[in-house]
Amino acid sequence: MSKYPIIIFEGIEASGKTTNFKIAANYLKKRRKSFIKLREPGGSIFSEKIRKLILNKKLNLNNKTDLLLFYAGRSENFEKIIKKNYKKKIILIDRFTDSTIAYQHYGMKIDLKVIKMLNKFIIGNFNPNIVFLSTVNSKNLQKRLKNRSKLNRYDKFKLKFYNKVQNGYEKISSNKSKYIKINSNTNTINEVKKIIINKLEKLI
Ligand code: TMP
Repeated sequence: MSKYPIIIFEGIEASGKTTNFKIAANYLKKRRKSFIKLREPGGSIFSEKIRKLILNKKLNLNNKTDLLLFYAGRSENFEKIIKKNYKKKIILIDRFTDSTIAYQHYGMKIDLKVIKMLNKFIIGNFNPNIVFLSTVNSKNLQKRLKNRSKLNRYDKFKLKFYNKVQNGYEKISSNKSKYIKINSNTNTINEVKKIIINKLEKLI
């Protein structure tokens, strides 16, 4: 594996994904490793504008529009940021193509063939090396979302939707060594740090 791996953080809302992303970024910073951080939706200047559109509660966009917006943002990130840094720096991404499969296919029932076709078209054979997948149970999900002061359009789905998405992640990751699962209900923050840092130490 390249010493500059592509590392992805995935999981549903309030699963601890972004905390885990920060743990990894802080660790790499401490070790003075050369890395870049990206998030999706978002990333490049244009993609951050798309993020605002997608997450805007006042806009009632249909699922197909969302799918194409996610890919428009991803295309800009890929062409302008990822390709430039690939194999030169470690790349950390808060959500990537597995989010599209989990949310747009398993959650919103968009044909998987369409998503795979868009993947091929936009990122070709580019393939992340490792995915940290965070999970949360329904009780904690509800509790944590309730405590958020600001909810965006994607924080306001019904519990059933998030269950479908999390089950989707389960299917995507099943029996694949590339996925490191982190259970935010049973692991303490120190245990989570240990899991992430142990894996990073082996990778870089
Ligand atoms: P965030 O809150 O983790 O920044 O993500 C915003 C939302 O966007 C989150 O609910 C997941 C969703 N999303 C998709 O539905 N499809 C995608 O391809 C991506 C990248 C995110």
